[in-house]
Amino acid sequence: MKNEKRKSFILVYIKTIKKGDILAVDRIKTGVPGLDNVLKGGLRRNSTVLVTGAPGTGKTLLALEFIYYGAKDYNENGIFITTEESLEVLDQSAKNLGMDIQGMIKQGKVHVVQKPIATLKGGLSSIKGLTDAIKKYNIKRAALDSLIFFEYLYPRLDGNKMEFRRQVLMFMQQMKDTGVTFVVVSERSVTDFDRLTYDMMDFVFEGIILLSRIRRGSYFERVLTVAKLRGQDHSLDVYPIAIGPDGLKVLYDQTPFSLVEKEQTEFK
Ligand SMILES: Nc1ncnc2c1ncn2[C@@H]1O[C@H](COP(=O)(O)OP(=O)(O)OP(=O)(O)O)[C@@H](O)[C@H]1O
Ligand SMILES: [Mg+2]
Repeated sequence: MKNEKRKSFILVYIKTIKKGDILAVDRIKTGVPGLDNVLKGGLRRNSTVLVTGAPGTGKTLLALEFIYYGAKDYNENGIFITTEESLEVLDQSAKNLGMDIQGMIKQGKVHVVQKPIATLKGGLSSIKGLTDAIKKYNIKRAALDSLIFFEYLYPRLDGNKMEFRRQVLMFMQQMKDTGVTFVVVSERSVTDFDRLTYDMMDFVFEGIILLSRIRRGSYFERVLTVAKLRGQDHSLDVYPIAIGPDGLKVLYDQTPFSLVEKEQTEFK
């Protein structure tokens, strides 16, 4: 009898854990090849994630793949807000990397908003238009390329860092309230993983994905690591990235050879 009681208690306990686990993290697949393995399943739905790194490390591509494959493979409509490239340039470079952005736009699954910085000087009034569009078009994921969008609106060097941060926080909150999963790109000059300094804005985001290049002799290797993801498990390793005709891929089952060689040299 005692054993029976213990057995049923354990069963109830296991059921509760399982239920709890499912409730705790509702993840969505990013669709970026290899990245979901690093993220142990994907990103938490409705989270805000910063993708940061030096120029040419693949930030725009990663954000664009998140939107494109989200729409194509996971039936989640997406919006890509760019202050950087025109739709024509974006579409052409995406084509060379295996993504038919125009096709997705025609189906109403992807929306691209190109905001030249000059037209945004008026303030945040256009954010309302953005959140309305998100509801109207049933958008589930959004990407902003890049955070420089705010730097022009509220130049930090005016000395009003707190106001800048407040404005970005307000915007992030408004975006979060729409229910989207939000990927934001930002530039940073120092991306050496060993010498990385944190930016004030980093604390605004629930997740940070870092992209960098590691030099080995006359060659640079592109790499990715996940610096943080509040409330979910992820890998802490550094992974190589390949950019080729089928886009950006995270080689989740490989170690960057530049790091392997570095370690071998250090132990000699
Ligand atoms: N078809 C292609 N084949 C191979 N590599 C490509 C191809 N198209 C682009 N790339 C590489 O991808 C890089 C661009 O990646 P991406 O635009 O995502 O970088 P980024 O981090 O957004 O850069 P920036 O900070 O300048 O905006 C280029 O530097 C180029 O080396
Ligand atoms: Mg870019």
